[in-house]
Amino acid sequence: MMQERSDALVVFGVTGDLAHKMILPSLYQMVRRGHISEPIIGVALDDWDIERLAARARDGILKQFGTIDEAVFAKLKGLLRYVSGDYKSAATFERLRETLGAAHRPLYYLAIPPSLFGTVIQALKAAGIAEEARLMVEKPFGRDLASAQALNRVLRAVFDEDAVFRIDHYLGKEAVQNLIYFRFANAFLEPVWNRTYVESVQITMAEDFGIAGRGKFYDEVGCIRDVIQNHLINVLLLLAMEPPVSSGPEDLSDEKVQILKSIRPLSGKDLVRGQFQGYDKEPGVAPASTVETFAAVRLFVDTWRWKDVPFYIRAGKFLPVRATEVVVRFRRPPVALFDEVSAADGNYLRFRVGPQVMIGIGARRKAPGEGMTGEDVELDALDDTTDDMMPYERLIGDAMNGRRQLFTRADAAELAWRIVDPVLDLKDRPQPYPPGTWGPVDAMKDFAPPGGWVDPNREGSIHDR
Ligand code: BG6
Repeated sequence: MMQERSDALVVFGVTGDLAHKMILPSLYQMVRRGHISEPIIGVALDDWDIERLAARARDGILKQFGTIDEAVFAKLKGLLRYVSGDYKSAATFERLRETLGAAHRPLYYLAIPPSLFGTVIQALKAAGIAEEARLMVEKPFGRDLASAQALNRVLRAVFDEDAVFRIDHYLGKEAVQNLIYFRFANAFLEPVWNRTYVESVQITMAEDFGIAGRGKFYDEVGCIRDVIQNHLINVLLLLAMEPPVSSGPEDLSDEKVQILKSIRPLSGKDLVRGQFQGYDKEPGVAPASTVETFAAVRLFVDTWRWKDVPFYIRAGKFLPVRATEVVVRFRRPPVALFDEVSAADGNYLRFRVGPQVMIGIGARRKAPGEGMTGEDVELDALDDTTDDMMPYERLIGDAMNGRRQLFTRADAAELAWRIVDPVLDLKDRPQPYPPGTWGPVDAMKDFAPPGGWVDPNREGSIHDR
């Protein structure tokens, strides 16, 4: 379809939390880098004006960066417009049409609850301002397979698939992009990247904070919906997919979809759910809530390459550290020629996705000294650039330019729900765990990859430097 750059950005939900924390600071960065000069129109119900919106943007920018460049901010403010109104009222979209002026290829960014998507999309169409537009939608994309399918029907009624950009901000992260780059830009990996050499894959997303005032949202969602169905399954796809025939969006999505189709839907035996103690006292959380704040799952990718290699994912709130990382553990050498090599030693590849960006290769070497005994070492490539693009900067920029590589195609979104669907909304109580621990320790004892879970905070890891 059209390849031309969008000629305006319209943010629905501009007075909300996400805009404050991420979207407005990202737009400021884009202005600073010269990546946006088109009008930015915020839309929301609140009776605000430009001054109020600008003050909100300033606050978000200061919270994010601790400082503000006034010249850049003035430019950003110069691009801002504000339309206040009810999404149910045609007059709101009439005002939006007037504010768009000559712009006829806007990017509409729906940073609003999915229950409102249909209303807004139909109103855009009715106002005659949808035809050449692009549409970017926030996560969560539905709350299960059926609602994601329904949502896709709503989008499809007005927009072609190649005008729709489903966001997962993990795909906008530098380190996540590096996963796929590192895999396919190096020849040495491919020969060992399969079930013959790889013993297990584990992905940890640990957060050392709780639900931070988001009780109402979180209690309707839980860990599996919040980060596993999207962020962490997306990381898994980049690790497991076959080499695409090109870096084009369709070829990438085709390979992801192949993997999604080959993952067995989860069952209770491949799952541990936990809840930090005190969760049900948080504001907005239902008393005796059975929503999980921690989940560990074991997935199997039934392809020629990965059959029987377990892919473990664990994620949770109030864990001991904040770190997201992947460890791909290789099988041990067939014969222990020198000293015994234990299951946890030896070779692995570690991708640190956040907060730092790094790739580490775990290897054994001879420990200096008389005997032929070994020690574990890690060869690290640490990326210490400090001016990384924020994920939202990259994603907004790509959507404005019509680049779809970092967005989720309709079928992929649905297939990811299919995997987690059987274990959503379980009514049994999750296992309690004290805040600041690695989840429900007893239940996790027998739920681990061979060689065990790798603690991102372990001695010698980049956390200690
Ligand atoms: C969001 C989740 O999508 O991702 C949050 O809703 C989570 O619960 C956040 O904290 C984590 O993102 P990041 O980029 O800090 O790892």
